[in-house]
Amino acid sequence: MIDAIGRPQSVLVLGGSSEIAQAIVAKLVPARCATVVLAGREGPRLGEATARAKAAGAEVAEAVPFDATHIDHHRAFVDEVFDRFGDFDVVIVAAGVLGDQAVDEGDPVSAATVITTNFTGLASAMLAIAARLRHQGHGRLVVLSSVAGERARKANFIYGSSKAGLDAFSQGLGDSLVGTGASVIIVRPGFVVGRMTEGMAPAPFSTTPDAVADAVVKGIESGAAVIYIPSILRWVFALMKQLPQAIWRRMPG
Ligand SMILES: NC(=O)c1ccc[n+]([C@@H]2O[C@H](COP(=O)([O-])OP(=O)(O)OC[C@H]3O[C@@H](n4cnc5c(N)ncnc54)[C@H](OP(=O)(O)O)[C@@H]3O)[C@@H](O)[C@H]2O)c1
Repeated sequence: MIDAIGRPQSVLVLGGSSEIAQAIVAKLVPARCATVVLAGREGPRLGEATARAKAAGAEVAEAVPFDATHIDHHRAFVDEVFDRFGDFDVVIVAAGVLGDQAVDEGDPVSAATVITTNFTGLASAMLAIAARLRHQGHGRLVVLSSVAGERARKANFIYGSSKAGLDAFSQGLGDSLVGTGASVIIVRPGFVVGRMTEGMAPAPFSTTPDAVADAVVKGIESGAAVIYIPSILRWVFALMKQLPQAIWRRMPG
């Protein structure tokens, strides 16, 4: 159970090798989060993330296989993981792909894979998770959305629309959980300098996995509903959404 000052003791991560998720786990474990379950595609990255959680002091640090696109498996996966490890105080939904819009625009299957990974696949897993959180009567579902979903840009509307879908879904799911003891925290970072954005020129107000992790840990403690990182992006995007289409279309890549 999350303790009196808001510190969780167990965490499940979907997308366990995510750089941002690892930064969050690195802050939760020393603050007495004893159980870390990292769900993701099998491979060295997931193994290394699990070893890091163990080295940081987690009593239980285990990797379990999860693929966001394997929708048929999600209900069984969620039930197995909750039955095996018990209640989770925090579930972090960090799986995601940026895709390559230049390629994806010409390859509908590739574009649909981005959307399935970032939205429909996660929606399916989150419904199964929400059922378990409702049943246990507590738990925070932390969803890595993005400001890219606030208003889709022509240069990355495939990723942007997948995040918009995930974000809207998470808002509704959060509303549906009110009164159950469980809740949703929507995290909307701007450009995060790291593996996903490697080789790209940082956008204005860019941030780091560590800064995102600090904000998420604070949000878990305070019970926040929506977090922007950096926080100024809340106001920047409030303005961006009001820009006339003719101006928005001319925004650089
Ligand atoms: N980086 C940014 O600028 C930024 C900004 C805003 C929001 N976000 C969001 O934050 C989240 C974490 O991103 P990050 O920066 O930590 O990037 P990252 O290090 O590339 O993490 C992405 C994670 O998604 C996993 N993943 C990809 N496809 C998957 C699938 N089919 N099934 C299961 N897992 C899959 C990856 O696993 P593998 O190791 O198997 O590839 C990896 O664990 C993402 O949802 C991202 O969209 C990122």
